[in-house]
Amino acid sequence: MIVTTKDLFEHAYGKYAVGAYNINNLEQAMGLFRGNLGKLDSAEAPEDEAVSAPFIIQISRGARSYTDKRMLEAVIRGAEEVFPEAVFAVHLDHGTEEACYDCIDSGFYSSVMIDASHEDFDENIAITKRVVERAHEKGIVVEAELGMLGGVEEDIQVDEAHASLTDPDQAVEFVERSGCDSLAVAIGTSHGAYKFAGGQGLHFDRIEAIGKLLPNFPLVMHGSSSVPKEWVDRINGAGGEMPGTAGVDEEQYLPAAKLGVTKVNIDTDGRLVWCAVHREFFRDNPAEFDLRGPGKPFMNAYAEFIAHKNGKLGSAGQLAAVRSGLGATV
Ligand code: G3H
Ligand code: 13P
Ligand code: ZN
Repeated sequence: MIVTTKDLFEHAYGKYAVGAYNINNLEQAMGLFRGNLGKLDSAEAPEDEAVSAPFIIQISRGARSYTDKRMLEAVIRGAEEVFPEAVFAVHLDHGTEEACYDCIDSGFYSSVMIDASHEDFDENIAITKRVVERAHEKGIVVEAELGMLGGVEEDIQVDEAHASLTDPDQAVEFVERSGCDSLAVAIGTSHGAYKFAGGQGLHFDRIEAIGKLLPNFPLVMHGSSSVPKEWVDRINGAGGEMPGTAGVDEEQYLPAAKLGVTKVNIDTDGRLVWCAVHREFFRDNPAEFDLRGPGKPFMNAYAEFIAHKNGKLGSAGQLAAVRSGLGATV
């Protein structure tokens, strides 16, 4: 069942964070749905209520053009049929104004992110407001961004020196003037596998300050991958070269959620799982060339990874309550 991120945030706010996972292909979609339903062995396994979680599927502009946006949409529609118990939002990640309108008009997305954070304050508000007006007319909700994360996102590289934390007073004005439904805030994280170049971690004081001025308003944390050492070691042990990686401490997801961080964006970690499984498979099976060989263990590993992540976010075990709150009958 596709719902809006707002529907999910109403249940989660202040208690847990909803995982927002980027996907690009069929195998990721399969692992994602299975992991969120606790079907760790196969799609036919019974749903495990103790770990089942609501979730957000994120589609970046890069993912939309990797094959064709309609291919990924069709995969997700297929997953919705295969897994009718799932409750999830379909969200455009880091949209331009043009991409937002395309998604709003598609009739498929329930949520879009307009990322005009590189514009000045007033222009960011003006662009966001236009998108909010178009989206709300169709019942679609909007995430906006204020502040500047470091790292690589889509085709933009922001070095740490130019990254800047979100100003709490500006956040209040931004939300009031733009009418956005949730706000991505810069609180110390960055995109990719090499976070915290300056050695710092999450800025809890900043999250708290923003949360106090915007009570009951969902905040979004981008760049939330934990870049697990286990997966990086497996990649490096199978021929990879990824020295000096760093990510967010997973134990900090829940404390951040209690302060209002209701959506936690994770892409890089999923890529690490993919890379480790495929590297190891072909290292250990040099004569193999069948894509289903690594595809199967990848889907299993990704499902387990998602279930683990949801445990850290506190969303594991929340699906039944979300479904009954939404009056779901399937
Ligand atoms: O924030 C960026 C996301 O990780 C999406 O990455 O644009 O390479 O799909 P992508
Ligand atoms: P990571 O690079 O930490 O996975 O962040 C992903 C993200 O913020 C997508 O919008
Ligand atoms: Zn992001």
